Amino acid sequence: MPFTLPELPYPEAALEPSVDALTMNIHRTKHHKAYVDNLNKALDGQSAYASWSIEEICVGTASMPDAIKGAVRNNGGGHFNHSLFWQVMCPKGSGGAPSAPLAAAISAAFGAHDQFKAQLADAGVKRFGSGWSWLIRKTDGGLAITSTPNQDNPLMKGLVDVLGTPLLGVDVWEHAYYLKYQNRRADYLTAWWDVVNWNEVNRRYGA
Ligand SMILES: [Fe+2]
Repeated sequence: MPFTLPELPYPEAALEPSVDALTMNIHRTKHHKAYVDNLNKALDGQSAYASWSIEEICVGTASMPDAIKGAVRNNGGGHFNHSLFWQVMCPKGSGGAPSAPLAAAISAAFGAHDQFKAQLADAGVKRFGSGWSWLIRKTDGGLAITSTPNQDNPLMKGLVDVLGTPLLGVDVWEHAYYLKYQNRRADYLTAWWDVVNWNEVNRRYGA
């Protein structure tokens, strides 16, 4: 079953002014669509993976044949990462707050909430070139902040330094912010906090 481009759970302009409508449009209908199309192309005729979910594909990328491994890493990662990204954002004022258990885990791992936000943003600002900054639940249950290059993500066994389940991720590729913020990645990350969907992050933490 080929993968498909997901719809946004809100209108393209709903994240203004943090994320502008034109960026949302190009980001999903051009960039994310290309990842979906190229993932489907890479997996075409690979019946062994026909029933795999996108999560299973990310976890198992390193075990795939060399002929498709690189394309699946880039495009399967791109599909998973962007699908998560649309879900962990929502219009300003509607995202709620970290649940009591998540707030306690954040406090235990990073200290005050502002310190947590600063660390996640710092991981994004310091990511050289393109990539992602993540809040993850590690395999031992604790939380960590990590960053991955390109379209890698913390599910990719054998390919990334720190493994875990992504709870929150922020895209720091230039295509995510350049139209509005140009080179000011830190400003984008500051404004992005206004549109974080904590209700969705809480759901992922509880899952
Ligand atoms: Fe992106």
